[in-house]
Amino acid sequence: MSAEHTLAIVRLQTAQHAAALKIARALPQWFTVGGVRQLQADLEQHSGFVALFDKEPRGFLTWTPDADALRLSWMGVHPAHHRQGIGRHLVLSLAEEACRRGIKRVLVDTLGDSVDYPPYAATRRFYRALGFRDHQRTFQPDNPECKENLTLLLRLPWTD
Ligand SMILES: CC(C)(COP(=O)(O)OP(=O)(O)OC[C@H]1O[C@@H](n2cnc3c(N)ncnc32)[C@H](O)[C@@H]1OP(=O)(O)O)[C@@H](O)C(=O)NCCC(=O)NCCS
Repeated sequence: MSAEHTLAIVRLQTAQHAAALKIARALPQWFTVGGVRQLQADLEQHSGFVALFDKEPRGFLTWTPDADALRLSWMGVHPAHHRQGIGRHLVLSLAEEACRRGIKRVLVDTLGDSVDYPPYAATRRFYRALGFRDHQRTFQPDNPECKENLTLLLRLPWTD
């Protein structure tokens, strides 16, 4: 990100739910209509962060506490702002949240490598570039939207 731009990560408030949904709808290769509907429901229950790029919401991340881990439930960055470090800063904020709570693991579920779908290959490259490692694979042949679920694990403190 160049010096003339600003990036701030803030806690997700109800007033920003519409902006998060708008970002998700701008990412149809990742967010199906059903996915957007589920995100809308989860926004009411999950905690989250919003990335303000030049004061405008351009990315979001939601999470839930899960035993000895924080589970990243949804994230998206507006396609006009990919590869500007917004996703990295959102995950960094989640890692900091985990550290504040004395939690040493962040988990995320995503589409597994055995499914040939380039958009999610990019998603896995993002998580792996940030230090997430493969944790568990679950094959779900009867689930047409996710025939393989891959759980990725980020161990903290973050050393990447
Ligand atoms: C995944 C996503 C959140 C990443 O956000 P982003 O702001 O573009 O990512 P960043 O700029 O912080 O990227 C950090 C690093 O991840 C890697 N990375 C990110 N996107 C990548 C891509 N498309 N291909 C390869 N590597 C990628 C790179 O190493 C990158 O660092 P670099 O740009 O210095 O090389 C964004 O692409 C997105 O919204 N995708 C669609 C929704 C989605 O996949 N959500 C998660 C579902 S589980």
